[in-house]
Amino acid sequence: MSKELKSKKWFGEKNLEGFLHRSGMKAQGWPENMIKDKPMIGIANTFSEAVHCNSHLRILADHVKKGVIAAGATPIEFPVISLGEFFLSPTSMYLRNQMSIDIEEMIKGLPIDGVVILTGCDKTTPAAIMGAASANIPTIILPGGPSLKGNWKGEELGSCTDCRRYWNELRAGNISQEDYDSMEESIYRSPGFCMVSGTASTMACISEAMGMTLVGAATLPAVDSRRMALANKSGQQIVNLVKNNVKFENFLDRQNFLNGIVTLMAMGGSTNAIIHLLAMAGRTKTKITLDDFNQISEKTPVLANLKPAGTKLMEDFHYAGGVSALLKNIKHLLNLETKSVSGQTLKDILDQSENFDQQVIRYPSNPVNDKGSIAIIKGSLAPDGAVIKVAAASKKFLNHIGKAIVFNNAKELSDKIDDPDLDISENSIIVLRNQGPIGGQGMPESGFLPIPKKLLDKGIRDIVRISDARMSGTAYGTIILHIAPESYIGGPLSLVKTGDKIKLSLKTKSIDLLVDNKTLSERKSLLKDSKHNSEYDRGYGWLYKNHILQADQGCDFDFLKAK
Ligand code: FES
Repeated sequence: MSKELKSKKWFGEKNLEGFLHRSGMKAQGWPENMIKDKPMIGIANTFSEAVHCNSHLRILADHVKKGVIAAGATPIEFPVISLGEFFLSPTSMYLRNQMSIDIEEMIKGLPIDGVVILTGCDKTTPAAIMGAASANIPTIILPGGPSLKGNWKGEELGSCTDCRRYWNELRAGNISQEDYDSMEESIYRSPGFCMVSGTASTMACISEAMGMTLVGAATLPAVDSRRMALANKSGQQIVNLVKNNVKFENFLDRQNFLNGIVTLMAMGGSTNAIIHLLAMAGRTKTKITLDDFNQISEKTPVLANLKPAGTKLMEDFHYAGGVSALLKNIKHLLNLETKSVSGQTLKDILDQSENFDQQVIRYPSNPVNDKGSIAIIKGSLAPDGAVIKVAAASKKFLNHIGKAIVFNNAKELSDKIDDPDLDISENSIIVLRNQGPIGGQGMPESGFLPIPKKLLDKGIRDIVRISDARMSGTAYGTIILHIAPESYIGGPLSLVKTGDKIKLSLKTKSIDLLVDNKTLSERKSLLKDSKHNSEYDRGYGWLYKNHILQADQGCDFDFLKAK
């Protein structure tokens, strides 16, 4: 084994430090021959009972350990911060960068030569990749896999696309409260991440396409026995990467990122991936911009028939052949020479893949959606960009002028949205502000603004909605997100008044506030300074407010970007 190993310096020295390090391992029952002269492999575990999506990761970690030992190395499992979408306030996004710091510093601080990072719920995968990119040792990402399909009264359900759809039906009076309640135990039938093309699935598939995981790691159901075997293989393979000194930077090249963006578009993935990919690239020497997303979107059809843009679920996607079968259909858009942690090129992987269900993985001649599933738009309302998931929007609203109805915050929205006197029609545009990285304390996924009850009662299920928030990848509708700069710091969204006209044009990829410059200047002069938020007085909140970047730069902390 190479003398260069970091662990060797910790465990191989005949001095007091070496004595202490070895005795720390012996205290846990490891014999001498497993401590000296073997690579040490970290297993960074995001297991948490506060993250139902990651609640099975202890079991997977045990299988990684078996693989590590079988390959002649010694595993050291350690916990890192875990972020779930359900049980965390104010938002998991507020803490994504903190998690990335945790992962980076643990990797750097521990006596490990390589690491397998177990991820799952939305932010855990990008945070892991950001931290690992900054630490840059041999690394394999092992996503926990999607939850089993929901099953309710004979209908297959996807979380939380169908929770939201039926929530609207409940509010419209089309199903009973009792019916809705009975869905609670039927939609999440196992640990694992949301089983639609949401943020967690998207980030897992992107990491597989970028080569950071073994084949199938993104899509194998969380509780499938084959995932345990995959965990074992990940444990074996990380030892090979250590032996060959294959660092994580090998999977963070511009070509890997471009392949990741193609995957995002082809699977009709989550808009959140744009922010995460920008942040991931920011940790490397690679440069990607919002323009890369538009250029790739314009030539990439949506071929994965997954909710919310399609009709199927991640389990179906895996059985149909998963990420590699999907990418095989658009290989002309990919750089096939990029390598995977398995040692294979993307070309080798695609050559071995097969499409077993053309209803789930479509061919370009029969796409789920035409090219352009996500668009970056800019204009007077969003000088630094905004995002729309075209694949999940109503076509009739994609080139639209409507009158704004403005809400200053989430509470005002929820207090007034169902007011029978609200002056709103199907052609109006709902605007919510103060939901950006700072104003929303972590850019909440509040962009899926509710449809007013009076419109639901008329059978209307979509209306244009605009905010500086994010949106869950499981949500859908004609929704403009990530407006930058955000309203809280004086972006143009802060100047909109109810009754103003807003023009959305997918044709010109623009979003404009149709108010003259003189009026806007007058309004700007009346804006008060940013409101005081006591959450930012000290500690992490202070750090966050003073260093967070805007959405178009991935919302990373400025001091974490690669030099
Ligand atoms: Fe964890 Fe959806 S709540 S992935």
